[in-house]
Amino acid sequence: MQLLTIECFEGPREAIAWCRELAAQGLSLGFVPTMGALHEGHQNLVRQAALENDRVCVSIFVNPLQFGESLDLESYPRDFTGDAKLLNEAGCHMAFTGTLPEFFPGRLDERGGLLPEYLLDPGPCAEGLEGEYRVGHFEGVATIVGRFFEILKPKRAYFGQKDYQQALVVRDLARNMDGPEVVICTTHREPSGMAFSSRNTRLSESEYAAGMFISRALFGARALWNQGQRDPAVLARHMQAVLKQGDLFVEYAAVRDPEEWNGSEPVGELQHAVALIAARAGDVRLIDNMLLSSTTPAGA
Ligand code: PAJ
Repeated sequence: MQLLTIECFEGPREAIAWCRELAAQGLSLGFVPTMGALHEGHQNLVRQAALENDRVCVSIFVNPLQFGESLDLESYPRDFTGDAKLLNEAGCHMAFTGTLPEFFPGRLDERGGLLPEYLLDPGPCAEGLEGEYRVGHFEGVATIVGRFFEILKPKRAYFGQKDYQQALVVRDLARNMDGPEVVICTTHREPSGMAFSSRNTRLSESEYAAGMFISRALFGARALWNQGQRDPAVLARHMQAVLKQGDLFVEYAAVRDPEEWNGSEPVGELQHAVALIAARAGDVRLIDNMLLSSTTPAGA
């Protein structure tokens, strides 16, 4: 049995004091924001942060600002104790949680919602795809992540390529607010090829089998790219054909230029490309992506 050495705080006050103490000692802080329901993908971010910083801190907060559907927010799995164990195993030093009023004191309206003037603009990378299908989502992400950067002042912050557009949004946010260095870590996959996700546990056996076509379509697009195919429309059509074989409701299967993010499909031959998919297997919305042109996400 592994000894629990991680410090856990129920609110941001102690977490902020802990980070200040680190700074006073001249120690560097790596920060990994999460919504809990942790898995090996999250643990990998923590491991990388532990290699590159003196201390690692993780936030566990199911952020209501980024959920459109309240059902999705309510059904989000929560297990702080189980999460703390996984974080401890991965080398995390401190984990904290909290509530919206604790993170935004004096900034909420009488119904408990954030006053709109405190919502951060997620910038141009929020346009299209996730930004289109989850209206308001990236405002919510930028607002909470920006707030964490502000109160914790980490040296580096770690995000997964799994949420590709989110990684671009927080990269730009950090640059604009003179925040931490954003490190984008590669997507961690199950042996089946499926990306680890907190939502995978909600899939039935047949939904899981359908979900597998997502990574299959992405790997297929990469194979085509490696054979010289550079036309985004052809690559997207290939992915759609693969996805059709699974019992999925496809929201998008698209190709974008990661160097010049744009809400609409690029035209002409691409030099850099990322393929992105969002699809529902039953009630569960799954997203995944794959860089076609290189192994390093833009800006990493
Ligand atoms: P959450 O979904 O908990 O993810 C936390 C971090 O883990 C994100 O940066 C995400 O991209 C990364 N991650 C998830 N699955 C991964 C995988 N299979 N491989 C690599 N990284 C993976 O993303 C959020 O929370 C929230 O939007 C948050 C940034 C915490 C703001 O509320």
